[in-house]
Amino acid sequence: MASYRLAGDECELVLLEAFERRRGTGTALLEAVALAAQEAGCRRLWLVTSNTNLDALRLYQRRGMHLVRVWPGAMDRFRELKPEIPLVGDYDIPLRDELELEMLLDGTIAGGEPAAAVQLQE
Ligand SMILES: CC(C)(COP(=O)(O)OP(=O)(O)OC[C@H]1O[C@@H](n2cnc3c(N)ncnc32)[C@H](O)[C@@H]1OP(=O)(O)O)[C@@H](O)C(=O)NCCC(=O)NCCS
Repeated sequence: MASYRLAGDECELVLLEAFERRRGTGTALLEAVALAAQEAGCRRLWLVTSNTNLDALRLYQRRGMHLVRVWPGAMDRFRELKPEIPLVGDYDIPLRDELELEMLLDGTIAGGEPAAAVQLQE
């Protein structure tokens, strides 16, 4: 399941969840959202994830996304408002920070390298 939000020339990937992991679902959904965003005229696809989500960070970076922002301690501050946010995330890593990743949809990614990993249709 994937959900995304279009706002001007940007698309936020809000949710990406593969109910069966490591079978290509996450990649297929990411490609579908990137294509939908490109067809809607978006210039940028972006998302926020946490410092513990190594599976997602692996997927996103290997599929052409770049890390563009880090908010150190963001999860700690959210936890003050929502104490149910766990202290520890995946792989027993302390859940502390938020990370923003992006993919530019004009054929380039941050730093000017070609976005070869996600093949977008014309
Ligand atoms: C992050 C997430 C969406 C990835 O989904 P996924 O369906 O497992 O992703 P994929 O199968 O496309 O790719 C994952 C890896 O499995 C590999 N893989 C795909 N099919 C495979 C298969 N049949 N056998 C073995 N490995 C396989 C892929 O090659 C990829 O590895 P690579 O990066 O080395 O190429 C999934 O882990 C998830 O739902 N996590 C929980 C929710 C979450 O954190 N979402 C992100 C929020 S920001």
